[in-house]
Parts: sequence; structure tokens; C-alpha cells
Amino acid sequence: MSHMEIELEINGVERTVEASKSDSLLDVLRRNGYTGSKRGCDTGACGFCTVHVDGEPVKSCVEPVTKVRDTSVETIEGLGEQDDLHPVQQAFVDNTALQCGFCIPGMIMRSTALLETNPNPTEQEVREALSDNLCRCTGYKKIVEAVLDAAERMDSDTAVAADGGQAMDGDGGAATVTECSLGDCDCMEGDQ
Ligand code: FES
Ligand code: FES
Repeated sequence: MSHMEIELEINGVERTVEASKSDSLLDVLRRNGYTGSKRGCDTGACGFCTVHVDGEPVKSCVEPVTKVRDTSVETIEGLGEQDDLHPVQQAFVDNTALQCGFCIPGMIMRSTALLETNPNPTEQEVREALSDNLCRCTGYKKIVEAVLDAAERMDSDTAVAADGGQAMDGDGGAATVTECSLGDCDCMEGDQ
């Protein structure tokens, strides 16, 4: 297996990573500690591994690493911190739009890409944008509501600023899954 070095930017940091020619972007991300990108199907069907490449949502499990040379990759780890969540992450938490959390990093990366190109989507547009991302738990309704809520928050910077540092609304149990939504949680670790 021939190894090579790939230069790319990950979450704003220039990186040189070791890779073999057959590696996917997901392989390389996870090997280098970006385990927020989840491996579900590994065949491009579930969207759990969605990241941004030069701002576009990409299923990293089917993206050859050789194609991302010199690109800018953003993963869930680059979006927000536990105590300073991105508005989309905060909206998912506040709308309890997650259960096991395994699909959520991909959902959030897909949602942020949507809101960057379409800051005020209709419900139908949100559903279409998320149609490549599967969730086995939530039934999607709360996820769609969270994205619409996030759009409103991002439309009104003052509301986000006033709200951004606040904790959740006291709904017990949400704190546990918040860690999964950040992508740092090990509870679902391990390839399936
Ligand atoms: S793990 Fe990439 S699409 Fe399912
Ligand atoms: S919250 Fe479990 S797969 Fe979506």
C-alpha cells in the first residue's frame, strides 16, 4: 500500500496528513482525531459522515482523499464549542432534535451548508436539503423545526447574541446528548 502526504486545511488549520491512495476523506479525518464525522453505511447512503469541502456538503466516506488535496475542509469540530455552540447546534439542542445523536453531526453540517446558501428556507426546502441524511430515531420533524428555528436565529444576530450563552431550557437529559451533537462523544464510537 503506497503512502503519500496530502496537504489540506481542516477547520482553518493547515495540515499535512498521511494517506494511502484508497483512503476516503472520512478515513483520514477519523484517523486524525476528527471523529465527529460518523461512519454509518460507508457507501454514501446515510449522510452521517457529511462535512464541508470548500463550503459544499460532501459525504466524506465516498470522497477519495486524493480529491481534497489543497481544499478547505470543515468538520463538526470546527463549528462551535461546548460552551459556545453554533446557532444551528444550539437550535438542535433547544428543539430536542436528537435522540441517539449519531446522525446529528452530518445533519448539522448539511444544515449549515443549506443556511449559508439559503438563509430563509421553506420547510420543503429544508426537507429536500436534508433528504440525503438519514435518521433512524427522530422522525425528522424536530430536526426540520430546528433548522427553521436556526434560520430565524441567524437572521436576527441580536437574538442570537442575547441567547447564545444561555443554557438549555431545563429539559432534563438534553445535556447528555449535547456532547454527541458536538461530535466529541465516544458513546457511539467504533465503525459499524
Ligand atoms: S457513512 Fe457516509 S454516507 Fe453513510
Ligand atoms: S438521532 Fe439517532 S440516528 Fe438520528
